[in-house]
Amino acid sequence: MAEIGKDIRKAKEILEAGELVAIPTETVYGLAANALNSSAVPRIFTVKNRPYFDPLIVHVASLEQAHMYVQFFPTSALNLARHFWPGPLTLVLEKKEIIPGLVTSGMTTVGIRCPDQELTLELLRSLPFPLAAPSANPFGYISPTEPAHVNEQLGDKISYILDGGTCRVGIESTIVGFEKSQPVIYRMGAINMEEIERIVGPVRVLTHSTSHPMAPGQLTSHYSPRKRLVLGVMPQLIEKFHGYSAGILSFMTDYSEVDADHQIILSSSANLEEAAQKLFLALHQLDKMDIQIILAEEVPDVGIGRAINDRLRRAAAPGE
Ligand code: TXA
Ligand code: MG
Repeated sequence: MAEIGKDIRKAKEILEAGELVAIPTETVYGLAANALNSSAVPRIFTVKNRPYFDPLIVHVASLEQAHMYVQFFPTSALNLARHFWPGPLTLVLEKKEIIPGLVTSGMTTVGIRCPDQELTLELLRSLPFPLAAPSANPFGYISPTEPAHVNEQLGDKISYILDGGTCRVGIESTIVGFEKSQPVIYRMGAINMEEIERIVGPVRVLTHSTSHPMAPGQLTSHYSPRKRLVLGVMPQLIEKFHGYSAGILSFMTDYSEVDADHQIILSSSANLEEAAQKLFLALHQLDKMDIQIILAEEVPDVGIGRAINDRLRRAAAPGE
């Protein structure tokens, strides 16, 4: 198992040696390496069992630092960065030479963000390089929102997990790219489409799965528990799967016909932010229950609810 602690100096030493450290962010835990080191970066793909066609997000301490790694910021990108950084927004921009092609899967663009998590910001400020970090889960599995999730999934493959406690937001960053300088959302995430549009005007949404996805968070089957998850209208699901030992993932309703031990309510006060924060934790818990199947319902499709539903649909999709 990996050591879990708050020692920034230790994390720094491991990263400087070209090894991996799991780091907290406000969204989910990341599996970090020196983004400029072409022998450190491949370790991320090996440990996660991640295909090389899936590019990594580069984490920086500030907007000034981001300028060292990207060619230029279209005006709308600059406005978004100024408004939301540090925060759960990844911008896809033309990269500078210094970012290895391994990080970007050979593309000329790089996904870059400044996370809003004090320990990780302090770590980033202390390092002479940025950190490439995908979510710290085996490829395709549920993202980790607590150090224990990382340890359960990858603890035998890494030595240190920087402990930032439970992630405050709980769902990954929103990814925005620019096509002819026009903003395009590649992944729904913690920052709402409405919030993005308030800064840059109307945006296009392009989050569908293809075999060569722009953002492989777009792969239809992703964020998946190992147990089968079925998404639908709950009372109908409960009736249909009567006779199965089922776990229930409910938005706000207490389905009293179901055993309380097998039921997780994301937010009894119907708060979408709370639901987002608890989503991956709930999926981890359901996956560990002694049940045959997970029954889940969508949340209202507004604000961060869109990102929650996106993750639920992908978790429900059969493997590709
Ligand atoms: O909240 C987050 O974004 C978390 C934390 C750790 O920062 N990271 C995260 O990383 O979710 P990951 O690897 O699980 O998802 C990153 C997504 C991938 O689907 C990847 O394809 C996309 O970002 N991405 C990275 N660089 C890209 C690029 N140049 N163009 C298009 N998509 C890119
Ligand atoms: Mg991920």
